[in-house]
Amino acid sequence: PPPPPPPPPATYTNTESSAASDVYKRQTPLPTHGTTAMTAKRIDGKAKAEQLAETITEQTAALLAEHGIKPGLAVVIIGEDPASQVYVRNKKRRAEACGFHSVQHSLPEDIAQDQVLALIDELNEDDAIHGILVQLPLPGHLDEETITQSISPGKDVDGFHYINIGKLSAGHTADAFIPCTPAGCILMLEDELGSDFSGLNAVVIGRSNIVGKPMGALLLQRNATVTMTHSRTRDLPGVVRNADILVAAVGQPNLVRKDWIKPGAVIIDVGMNRIEKEIDGEIKTKLTGDVDYDGAAEVAGAITPVPGGVGPMTITMLMFNTLRSARLSAGLEG
Ligand code: GUN
Repeated sequence: PPPPPPPPPATYTNTESSAASDVYKRQTPLPTHGTTAMTAKRIDGKAKAEQLAETITEQTAALLAEHGIKPGLAVVIIGEDPASQVYVRNKKRRAEACGFHSVQHSLPEDIAQDQVLALIDELNEDDAIHGILVQLPLPGHLDEETITQSISPGKDVDGFHYINIGKLSAGHTADAFIPCTPAGCILMLEDELGSDFSGLNAVVIGRSNIVGKPMGALLLQRNATVTMTHSRTRDLPGVVRNADILVAAVGQPNLVRKDWIKPGAVIIDVGMNRIEKEIDGEIKTKLTGDVDYDGAAEVAGAITPVPGGVGPMTITMLMFNTLRSARLSAGLEG
């Protein structure tokens, strides 16, 4: 039998919102399925990331001029994983473009854990360094938990230290570092929906420590009704059909189909899947998200593309966290 039709769209009445435009958005029913397909707004993460990077660059120059402090970012990469090499190169480039002091430590695949911990100790003590990032995944002989937890919480610009996870979980975000990917996703969602998600159903697919779990905490902090889903969830399409906000972070190419999408939903696609595709008779690798973009865009209200959505925002949020760390070290607001 065909699947049941999606439930009728809700009408939101937001009594607590401060911004007039926000109230307007919530009182407007979500668009319905018509006979003609609607086309979702394409959320341009690249353009937003560039705008934000401009502000970071200006504030970096001001921090140097007024307080003599240059934000310093240290990136540690262990081994030769090609994807990690690309990410780290991009992080270094972006840090330099923002006017940061940027250092990279490239360590051999077979380095001993003690040597990694010794380097992190050194960076923890170095006043010129405000942010430390150890690129994951690590080679198998290294213990990810010991290494991530050895970074000083005040320099943990990845937001992986238990102190930062705990602060986020408790809603004490004033001096916490929020993991970069969910932090970027929230900014894009706020652009579409305002800063209060009261009355909205948010569904997160994936429960990783890097994306899914902190994403859930950030959505909850903004008053969304949050459902966390994962590989053991029963009837995932049925759960997703309730989502006014959908964040997909599972690493399964095109998992989320058009008929899972609630009309008018805002979709953030965190997937970064490399798939092989025949283009002009040649097999090439193509970057694809967790959502079938073309299908979903016929139903959703707004959606991030892959590439050009979440990825560029993630790198910029690392710069944001590093500048914030430098400002906090000077006793300024983050
Ligand atoms: N590998 C993939 N994503 C990340 C991230 O956000 N931080 C670090 N350190 N490594 C990663």
